[in-house]
Amino acid sequence: MNTYTGVIDRYKKYLPVTSNTPVVSLCEGDTPLIYSPEISKDLGSNFKVYLKYEGLNPTGSFKDRGMTVAISKAKEERAAAVICASTGNTSASAAAYSARGSLKCVVVIPEGAIALGKLAQALVHKARVVAIRGNFDDAFTIVRKIASDYGLVLVNSINPYRIEGQKTASFEICDFLGDAPHFHFLPVGNAGNITAYWKGYKEYYSYKKITRLPKMCGFQAQGAAPIVKGKPVKKPKTIATAIKIGNPASWKQALTAKRESKGLIEAVSDNQIISAYKFLAGREGVFVEPASAASVAGLFKLKRNGFFDKVGKKEVVIVCTLTGHGLKDPQVAIKNIKSPPVVEADEKAVLKAAGI
Ligand code: F0G
Repeated sequence: MNTYTGVIDRYKKYLPVTSNTPVVSLCEGDTPLIYSPEISKDLGSNFKVYLKYEGLNPTGSFKDRGMTVAISKAKEERAAAVICASTGNTSASAAAYSARGSLKCVVVIPEGAIALGKLAQALVHKARVVAIRGNFDDAFTIVRKIASDYGLVLVNSINPYRIEGQKTASFEICDFLGDAPHFHFLPVGNAGNITAYWKGYKEYYSYKKITRLPKMCGFQAQGAAPIVKGKPVKKPKTIATAIKIGNPASWKQALTAKRESKGLIEAVSDNQIISAYKFLAGREGVFVEPASAASVAGLFKLKRNGFFDKVGKKEVVIVCTLTGHGLKDPQVAIKNIKSPPVVEADEKAVLKAAGI
């Protein structure tokens, strides 16, 4: 029998929980690290590229790893309610874990700017969803203020328990590979996840569970790339709504991860994101949401720019985090792929249209 019951149970000795913590879990984590033959081949015979498919978490994104810890601790502290601002996935996760833990959940989102699947999740899990005429950064400013003025627990990634939970993704990768990868690629929005991964790798290194640390390579969308530009972006724009953020909360920590790991934070265009998104779905069979494809878009970009030319023949292990499931955002999928032909209900017509 499989006795897996989530990241708190598996990694509790590395997490800020005690026997008094009422664990609220939906069996998050334990996501597959999928070998990518196509991308590996494209980079060269000495490259091994793996995809950490976080879309397979219970609510379809990596947020569940952090939310299980944040909601369990909120319950332990007898919080009246939790609150978050979100580009969609945080709200979906907060709503589901709050439902599971019988906590009230308030969600503030930018109107018309979150993917349909994510909105459905927050609503169906009975969060109190409020849309504002403003962007994510405006929503975040409001929830920070409400949390501090009215004593609600903020479950955005500035909540340290979120980071603690999310660092377990690094642990899983190292446990699977037997060491850290040489490079870790991931999308960057509010910059909590790059902060969490780096914390996880450093902790495993300090416990001597791994012999090296990866270079952290973060990617923002070109129209929402404040860290790359070195200043906040007032009106962020990108098809990747999950990372449409102009003033990331964990900006400083992201720069620390970049500096300490000798990594980089760069931007990828919407075209590069969509092209990586189609590649993952069409060539690897892995359906992700657009923001998630920023990691692979970044890898392709660096390859094209000759970033790996100096590596020589030694083995290079790369992990790309795919942060959320493709089904979250069916509208972008439909818009970017040709619609199917419609024919008469006739066998021959079907065969002809299918090209068989
Ligand atoms: N990918 C997806 C699918 C996301 O939902 C997010 C963030 C990121 C990447 C970036 O992660 O913020 O830790 O740098 N989504 C947040 C939300 C902001 O509200 O759901 P980050």
